[in-house]
Parts: sequence; C-alpha cells; structure tokens
Amino acid sequence: MLVPSPWRADFPAIAALQRQAQIYLDNAATTQKPQALLDALHHYYANGAANVHRAQHLPGAHATQAFEDSRHKVAQWLNSGDSGHIVFTHGATSALNLLAYGLEPLFNPGDEIVISALEHHANLLPWQQLAQRRGLKLVVVPVDAEGLIDLAAAARLIGPRTRVLAVSQLSNVLGTWQPLAPLLALAKAQGALTVVDGAQGVVHGRHDVQALGCDFYVFSSHKLYGPDGVGVLFGRHDALAQLRHWQFGGEMVQDADYQHATFRPAPLGLEAGTPPIAAVIGLGATLDYLRALGQDAVAAHEAALHDYLLRGLQARNGIRLLGRPHVALASFVVEGIHNADLAHLLTEQGIAVRAGHHCAMPLLKGMGLAGAIRVSLALYNDSDDLERFFEALDQALELLR
Ligand SMILES: Cc1ncc(COP(=O)(O)O)c(C=O)c1O
Repeated sequence: MLVPSPWRADFPAIAALQRQAQIYLDNAATTQKPQALLDALHHYYANGAANVHRAQHLPGAHATQAFEDSRHKVAQWLNSGDSGHIVFTHGATSALNLLAYGLEPLFNPGDEIVISALEHHANLLPWQQLAQRRGLKLVVVPVDAEGLIDLAAAARLIGPRTRVLAVSQLSNVLGTWQPLAPLLALAKAQGALTVVDGAQGVVHGRHDVQALGCDFYVFSSHKLYGPDGVGVLFGRHDALAQLRHWQFGGEMVQDADYQHATFRPAPLGLEAGTPPIAAVIGLGATLDYLRALGQDAVAAHEAALHDYLLRGLQARNGIRLLGRPHVALASFVVEGIHNADLAHLLTEQGIAVRAGHHCAMPLLKGMGLAGAIRVSLALYNDSDDLERFFEALDQALELLR
C-alpha cells in the first residue's frame, strides 16, 4: 500500500466499520475514537462517577482531580500558559454562542462585527443574531478563488467601528488555512476583539494560541478524536473578564440569596451546571494519546494522504475542486451531475462522505452551487480507503453519465 496508517489498529471502530463494509471519509464532521479514550471512559464509569467541584468525598475528589487535569492538558495542547484560560463548553457551537451572548453588552448600535464569507453556520449565525438584536452591522469579508479570505478587502472592511473579528482557522469546505496573522493584526490595530474558530484547524497540527495572539479560540473535542458533548473556549484573561455570565445555575455561583447573586469569574463562572465530566476526562486521555503519536509523523501522513486524494480527483474528467485545499479534505462537484445523486450512489457502495452545503450555505450559494461532495481524512485513513472511494466514484460516474 502506498500510504499505510500506523495508527489504524488504535481505533477499534475502523475494523467494525470495515465489517459493515463501510469506508469512513467524513472525518471533518466527526472522528472515530481511539481505544485510549474508550478505556478512560470505562475507567471513570467503572470506578465511581461523582460530581465535580462540590463534593467533599473521595469519589468527588478523584473526579474533580481528573477533570481539572484535563483542563491542564488542554491548556498545554494549545500552549495557553495557564489552565484558567480554558472554559469547557458543550462544543464549538456552544462556545461561539457563549461569546455572542457574553460580549453583547459591549456593543452599541452601529458597531460592526466582521466575519468572512466562508464561515460555518456556527461562526455566522450567533453573530448574525446578535447583530439583529443590537442593531449592529455584520460585515462579511469575501473569499478569493483559491479559498482564502481576501486580505485587501479585509483591510478595507475592518475599521474603527469593528468591535469583533471572528474567522475560521481552516475552512471546513475548502480545506484552506486562513491568513490569520495579518487578519488578526488588522483587527487589533482597530482595538477589536479576535475570535478564531479552530474547529477544523485544531485537528491538523498543533497551534499555539499565545503565538497566534487571538483573544478567543474555540474547538470541539469530537472532531479531535475525543468524545462528543464537550468543547473548549480558550480566552485570554482580560478577554474572558469582558464576558457577561450567560447561563445561570450551580457551580458558577459565588453567593446567592432570593433576590441577588454574585458569580464566579471564568472559567468556572462560565460553566453553569454539571459539566460533561466523563467527556472532559476522556478528552484529556485523547490528548495524551495524540501527544504520544508525534505531531511530525501525523502531519507527514496527512500530507501524503491528502496528496493522494487530490491526485486521484484531478486525474478524473469533469471533477471541479472547490478552492485549492491545503490539507485534510477536498470538496468537489462534477460537471452535469447533481451532488445528491452522486452521494446516493457512493452511499450505496459503502462510502461515507458528506454531500450538501456543509453548514456553510451562504458560501455555497455564492459559488452558485446547491451542494458539493466532501471527502475528509483522518490519521487512521490509508490509501486503500481512498482506492475504495475512487472505485466507487468511477462506478457512480459511469452510471450517471
Ligand atoms: C469550521 C467549523 N466551525 C464550527 C463547527 C461546529 O462544531 P460543533 O458542531 O461540534 O459545535 C464545525 C463543525 O463542523 C466546523 O467545521
């Protein structure tokens, strides 16, 4: 095999999917899980679940310790410098909603929020709805033909009324790394807060949030081989301090009487109610597993596999790639063929890829497309998976043409 994966056996679901004759190539949507995570979840539940940060008893102390260890591991993963920068949420979407609600009091009518034309709905709709609630202007920076946010346009559109810039690090449709450094510099020069949607970027390579220099960075555990139901909001201390508390209940309160209450600062002040304890602990175990793989080896494998995917697509007639993907995925359309028909035939042949608008409807509409097929890769995929995909694609195209 041209591109084998040395880590395939670490993911029991890959063998299970193989027994069901399924090739899983929808990894940008969610990933399969390593045995190390399954073991951590089993260990937690088999040894005594307990709530965190409240109980005096031993199971509570163990759960709290493991939970806070995970916060520390996430802080290390992002090089945030201090685990107090890490807020656990229920996913990237809930982190972005937390930001849009938490920052709301900072805005005055006429203020501007800048996003880009390629944002996932999760990094569009919370800002769009905030803009509607507060009479703000949502400014959309266009994307060029390669799939990069247009820096010249950004320089024109980011101005003195800009309060927030919120952009993706890696596009979930186009697979392009965005020019974050110059974008963030433009926003900072105007005194705006910067939000990076790292939902896809965090999965590919290690990213240092201090070096990036953003105020906030969000991601979901489930795309990074971790459990679902948990996400991360990184915020610099002074940026977190600007967030209004947005959900109220246990854990986040300092003092309460019937008419008034005071609240804890971040991170616990932004984690109302019982958090996803097992999932947070599982995310920590997943990061331990990933750290041990060696980032260079993973990056080299992903690059080789991505190259294999692009070459295979480019070798076929009538296939048009969306943008110029750098890593991880490729989205495409085929001249004269509806993506839903193609997706249907791929599904029938056991190929799990994504078809449709990829939660970025305005981007696809702007390209004049109703949808596209997306093939997205993970570290456990190999070139045999892609060969199976290409065979199925050829068969489908023959039928449809
Ligand atoms: C770029 C991007 N942002 C945000 C999200 C939302 O992630 P979640 O649904 O896990 O909250 C996704 C998920 O596909 C994504 O690709």
